[in-house]
Amino acid sequence: MATLAVVGSQWGDEGKGKIIDYLAKKAAMVVRGQGGSNAGHTVVIGTKKYALHLIPSGVMNEHTVNIIGNGVVFDAEGFFDELAALEKDGVKTDNIFVSDRAHLVLPYHKTLDALYEEARGDGDLGTTRKGIGPAYMDKVERSGLRVCDMLDEAGFRKKLAAQIDAKNRIIETLFGAPPVNKADILAKFTDYAARLRPYVRDTGVMVYEAVQSDKNVLFEGAQGSMLDIDLGTYPYVTGSHPISGGFTTGAGIGAGVIKHVVGITKAYTTRVGKGPFVTELDNETGVRIREIGHEYGATTGRPRRCGWFDGVVVRYSARVNGTTCLALMLLDVLSDFDELKLCQRYEYGGKTLSDFPASLDVLDACVPQYITLPGWKCDISVCRDFDSLPEAARNYVKTVEEMTGVPVKIISVGPDREQTIIREEIF
Ligand code: GDP
Ligand code: IMO
Ligand code: MG
Repeated sequence: MATLAVVGSQWGDEGKGKIIDYLAKKAAMVVRGQGGSNAGHTVVIGTKKYALHLIPSGVMNEHTVNIIGNGVVFDAEGFFDELAALEKDGVKTDNIFVSDRAHLVLPYHKTLDALYEEARGDGDLGTTRKGIGPAYMDKVERSGLRVCDMLDEAGFRKKLAAQIDAKNRIIETLFGAPPVNKADILAKFTDYAARLRPYVRDTGVMVYEAVQSDKNVLFEGAQGSMLDIDLGTYPYVTGSHPISGGFTTGAGIGAGVIKHVVGITKAYTTRVGKGPFVTELDNETGVRIREIGHEYGATTGRPRRCGWFDGVVVRYSARVNGTTCLALMLLDVLSDFDELKLCQRYEYGGKTLSDFPASLDVLDACVPQYITLPGWKCDISVCRDFDSLPEAARNYVKTVEEMTGVPVKIISVGPDREQTIIREEIF
């Protein structure tokens, strides 16, 4: 049996979708445990490219059961759109299940997400506006509605109507904005409730039984560790726990269940949305990385901010996740550079910091201390084993291992499933 968590080591978009799809060929089950349709996980198979938001990235593997766990905030509208798109492409979708305990993202959450962002002005967080923060706010405030509520039509309409009224009071009086349309939402969600019924399960039991019967279970992280609500660059974070620990509450499993943690790690760094980014390249080099790496958001289309590899971030992330190995992604994107920089440590006020700091003011004043390595200046997208990589690329990988203290067991040299180097099987 293997239980494996796949988490983002940086600020999301590290290539989790590609590796989850790749590893899912050996998995009986793939489980999402947090986030919602703010995620954008790309899976490329031949000439076809899929962007998954809510549906787990195991779905392209016919034998894999795909679970949307209790910790996910569930956007029914997004779910049915995604399902329809997959079905249109002939993808099998009868192996997808949604936790009855998952909280719902409702249209007023999206409205409020946008209104809060606008009210923040220049201090906006740059959210995806998918309603994630407001849905988690309701969960914590104890006014959220859950998937199980949808199963009782009359009761659900009553609860939803009361919540729409409550949220419209905030929307109208606090923001002076137009209310959401109660009749429309009630009609839409009555329809969604009927259509959702066949997908709803107590998914915690399904996961437990799969683990108990020694099946390979893969836990799919969304976002990245530095966007964790507790351990990320607060307040420039998401509303959930994208670290490995997030699966205990988010999938309903015991703390000791997960045996391996794969940190999906870009060979450089990107961030979409606002917030600190010590190795950011606000220059021609950053633009070059963005263009070569096609660094535009899979969910919002926004250009991603780009910078050099940050060893302080990945080391920190390895610590808070208990990362057992790294998958180093998009190494091919760096093929055209004469020199490559990797940040070994931060200097703050003339001193070396021993770890990633909490304070944004400190982070702002941190100066990255780089080591410079020669580039390899050739196409590595055709390489399929470690030894066939040029020496400079192998050296880059080894430097990442030394900086982070974690072995790199997977190297990705292109978006396609095939463009993957496995140094050691982990499943
Ligand atoms: P996720 O959110 O972590 O699943 O990552 P995204 O899908 O948002 O972003 C990763 C992007 O990089 C996608 O467009 C992938 O198709 C692409 N990608 C993944 N691995 C590689 C790689 O090794 N090389 C290149 N060039 N692109 C990759
Ligand atoms: P995947 O799973 C990158 C970022 C947003 C914003 C912050 C808060 O594709 O890696 P939210 O809408 O969650 O309240 O926004 O988090 N963000 C992501 N950035 N990849 C993601 O997901 C993200 N999901 C949220 O840009 O900065
Ligand atoms: Mg993404």
